[in-house]
Amino acid sequence: MLTVAALCTEYAGQNGAAVKAAQDVTFDVADGKFFTLLGPSGCGKTTTLRSIAGLERPVSGEIVVDGLTVFSSRQRVFLPPNKRRFGMVFQSYAIWPHMNVFQNVSFPLEVAEGRLPKEEIRARVMRVLAAVALDHLAEREATKLSGGQQQRLALARALVMEPKLLLLDEPLSNLDAKLREKMRFELKRMQSEFKITTIYVTHDQSEALALSDEIAVMNEGRIVQLARPREIYERPLTKFVADFIGTTNFLDGKVIGGGAGETFWSVDTRIGVLKVRSERPLPLGSSISVSIRPEDVHLSDAERPAESVNSTEAMIEQVVFLGEHMDLKLRLGEQEILARGHPSMNAAPGRRIHMWLNPDKCIAVAAE
Ligand SMILES: Nc1ncnc2c1ncn2[C@@H]1O[C@H](COP(=O)(O)OP(=O)(O)O)[C@@H](O)[C@H]1O
Ligand SMILES: [Mg+2]
Repeated sequence: MLTVAALCTEYAGQNGAAVKAAQDVTFDVADGKFFTLLGPSGCGKTTTLRSIAGLERPVSGEIVVDGLTVFSSRQRVFLPPNKRRFGMVFQSYAIWPHMNVFQNVSFPLEVAEGRLPKEEIRARVMRVLAAVALDHLAEREATKLSGGQQQRLALARALVMEPKLLLLDEPLSNLDAKLREKMRFELKRMQSEFKITTIYVTHDQSEALALSDEIAVMNEGRIVQLARPREIYERPLTKFVADFIGTTNFLDGKVIGGGAGETFWSVDTRIGVLKVRSERPLPLGSSISVSIRPEDVHLSDAERPAESVNSTEAMIEQVVFLGEHMDLKLRLGEQEILARGHPSMNAAPGRRIHMWLNPDKCIAVAAE
């Protein structure tokens, strides 16, 4: 459906040096899928999305939508945004304040080429308003809507054109936390209802994990990992990805053995030799980092450790009770480990406890 190949987009920076905002960005999105560009502020997400929309003119690369080349540096093709006909909702969504809800959505249809009959416009507007649960407010002035309702209105306005591709740039970022979570479910529902191919931009990892079929994690203008949400979370390739997606512990170390057709390796770390997982071969003697998430640090107050590998004793340094779980800070000499425990566990600061790091969840990542 959408192919972006070797896309590079630059801006003129200060003192003549170009800002390379998107570099060698390559990805494919299948029909009807929800694809997310995720990364910290300034990593090039908006630039990539605006390049797809035709609002920026890339330096090089190719963008093909549904078999139509909308940009190609090699073939010297650049289709202007209005010829691409994608639906767009940006962070600063602007509803038209002097119009009511119905008019906000019908206006794009009324000014479009090949105007539809009035009855058909009405039917289409009411259909999308129903989908975003605003049909009962069709006559209300747009400015008298709540933040979440205005957001849904902006979405309805993009959807009413029945675009091939929906481009969303941090569309939930102006909403408060509770509403953002609710809208997340709504978005997912609407996207699967309309089966519309969606490119979503966010810096919020939980939003990306919850919504996406696939996620491209970006850093400094480049895609650093592209995979399904679970794989991004459970099998990060680099320290950057592991750190950006959720909370994790890092243990630096040297590879001292393992491999040989296996996915497990021995790594010498500050807390001893650990058995860790890597899908890629690790050269003996190389420096790597081991990422382990707090929820994968298993704690037990039994007398003896239950496991023989990746098992050690630690001292509980700090305990924070959070209702449904406890956050614990453990200490092993120089190394601090964050863990998560059940609230019923007997965990007082100063106590010693057995800790087991599941080898399957100890992920070798590039040290960078
Ligand atoms: N119009 C512009 N002129 C110059 N530099 C820009 C412009 N827009 C963005 N940039 C720069 O390009 C880089 C990527 O920006 P952007 O795509 O907006 O990142 P993101 O959306 O991931 O926060 C940043 O370094 C930013 O400062
Ligand atoms: Mg942005």
